[in-house]
Amino acid sequence: MRIRPMRRTDVEAVERVTDRAFRPAGGGRSTVARHRWIKRLAHFLDVDPGGCWVAEDQAGVAGVAVALRRDEMWVLSTLAVDPAHQGRGIGKALFDAAVAYGDGCLRGMLCAMPNHAALRRYRHAGFTLYPTLRLSGTVDPGAAPDVGGVRVGSQSDLDLVDSVDRRVRGATHRADHAFLATGGPLLVCDILTGSGYVYLDQFGVGPLAATSRAVAQRLLWAALNTVPPGEELSVRHLTSDQEWALDVGLAAGLRVETDGCLALRHMRPPAPYVPSVFFG
Ligand SMILES: CC(C)(COP(=O)(O)OP(=O)(O)OC[C@H]1O[C@@H](n2cnc3c(N)ncnc32)[C@H](O)[C@@H]1OP(=O)(O)O)[C@@H](O)C(=O)NCCC(=O)NCCS
Repeated sequence: MRIRPMRRTDVEAVERVTDRAFRPAGGGRSTVARHRWIKRLAHFLDVDPGGCWVAEDQAGVAGVAVALRRDEMWVLSTLAVDPAHQGRGIGKALFDAAVAYGDGCLRGMLCAMPNHAALRRYRHAGFTLYPTLRLSGTVDPGAAPDVGGVRVGSQSDLDLVDSVDRRVRGATHRADHAFLATGGPLLVCDILTGSGYVYLDQFGVGPLAATSRAVAQRLLWAALNTVPPGEELSVRHLTSDQEWALDVGLAAGLRVETDGCLALRHMRPPAPYVPSVFFG
């Protein structure tokens, strides 16, 4: 097995490996979700070619790691090994390659699944593991208050979004705005008491950052209000610092469930903040 940089021609094989690794019981992704994965991998190859690695043997791609650098923050977006090859050191080798891409970064962040091998690796690499909760379900149609001050954002709001991100999590999503906007609308709130933003896509809410909890709650309500009635959604990786989000979710009729961990290096959990699983 050899570890080498990912190529554009690997992207479809990599998507299949992640599908097998993340859903070993089968079922498979929807076509929409598969295309979203492929487009996201292509985006990371454009922006972070040095952070995209695969493990390969004669039979083809058997594992993948994708890491990003945003300002002085390193983010692990994906780590997956085909179930047929797990437990043989491939995940560790891929993770090491992804970590090396972050040389010189001051902070690190990743959203971890509750997987023994992954959590062991992250802790050994010096990450602090913060257990997380997830809100999921359908929004109670009668629950939503009429929140003011939130509007659909545009290109001209990106400096504001970046400054909120810098303040709340110490790094922007500058290189990812164009991709994030292809998944759903950017909502922005910029009022006397604070500022913030949220991205939405058909799979959930996040990233969301704000300079106050009250603004974060407005943004989360506004995001929930855009979801068509009866449609399932999730708000993931909420540490205990995000009770403002739990309160909105419970009032909206969503379930609170255990999720995984937010793994952080040289930083505390940003708040108020909802991370993006793939963009930190
Ligand atoms: C997580 C994953 C990438 C690890 O890859 P892997 O090739 O199986 O892992 P490795 O063989 O390199 O082992 C990594 C570490 O976990 C340990 N480990 C491996 N399998 C384990 C198991 N079932 N239980 C506990 N520890 C285990 C290894 O001993 C090793 O420990 P070390 O770092 O102290 O040496 C892989 O299991 C996977 O794709 N899982 C499904 C997708 C997933 O959860 N990805 C992580 C998302 S956050």
